[in-house]
Amino acid sequence: MKKILLAATAALALVPMSFGASASEKVEFPKEKWSFSGNFGKFDRMQLQRGLQVYKEVCASCHSLKYVAFRNLEALGYSEDQVKAFAAEYEFPTLDDEGSEIKRKGLPSDHFPSPYPNEKFARASNNGALPPDLSLMTKAREHGPDYVFHLLTGYDEPPQGMTVMDGMHYNKYFADGNFQIAMAKQINDDQVTYADGTKATADQISRDITAFLHWAAEPKLEVRNSTGLRVTIYMVIFTILAYFLKRRIWARLEK
Ligand code: HEC
Repeated sequence: MKKILLAATAALALVPMSFGASASEKVEFPKEKWSFSGNFGKFDRMQLQRGLQVYKEVCASCHSLKYVAFRNLEALGYSEDQVKAFAAEYEFPTLDDEGSEIKRKGLPSDHFPSPYPNEKFARASNNGALPPDLSLMTKAREHGPDYVFHLLTGYDEPPQGMTVMDGMHYNKYFADGNFQIAMAKQINDDQVTYADGTKATADQISRDITAFLHWAAEPKLEVRNSTGLRVTIYMVIFTILAYFLKRRIWARLEK
């Protein structure tokens, strides 16, 4: 009976292993250090500003960022006027008094516009593949920001014997697509000239855009971290107080 139980336990322990071995788990994602990692993590405002520059200059021609409103950018350290000016660089369709379609300038309450009028157009422009919205990307993929960073820097020559399909690109971190992704390599050294003078290596650019996208996906991360810290301090003090109170109450009985 004992043996049967043991065997059953062993079998059960193996089940998650066989289920867990999906393609993406065969790829090793080296853990990156981010300013926002851990319980005390904070965003680096300058890095977020650089990331915004990368989004605007490199990614925005294909990827939307539909959950981010221009006014959210104040969290990156921009003033209200800077945000207003930034929004005004974009145009949005609207109707005039006669009902004809015209363009108006963007307002802080507008969201980043999609580069394409619709999905069909987006696919037609990208060899049939759809560039996904990037607003929640770092939360939507396993390994989060580490995944996005490694994907951006993971372009390489395909291993011997692999034929990369037409219009596809070998990327050693794109396991879900058998290492073939419809997005070409986007980031090279000096792809952007940073306004703050930071040296724009491909590695730096990829880190900056990833940090920016993580802010877009988790704008409240810092609030959550500091609330967590306050709750922890409160709990520690409360536990110490409770301990001394207990000693006092029980002191008479233990004599
Ligand atoms: C020329 C168009 C184009 C540009 C520019 C571009 N991408 Fe993409 N991207 C695509 C397409 C197309 C896909 C879909 C790929 C697929 O499913 O094979 C994609 C997919 C992605 C994905 C999702 C991968 C996944 O796991 O599904 C991420 C993340 C991404 N791009 C990030 C970026 C970032 C960050 C930039 C700017 C540095 C950028 N892209 C610039 C076209 C582009």
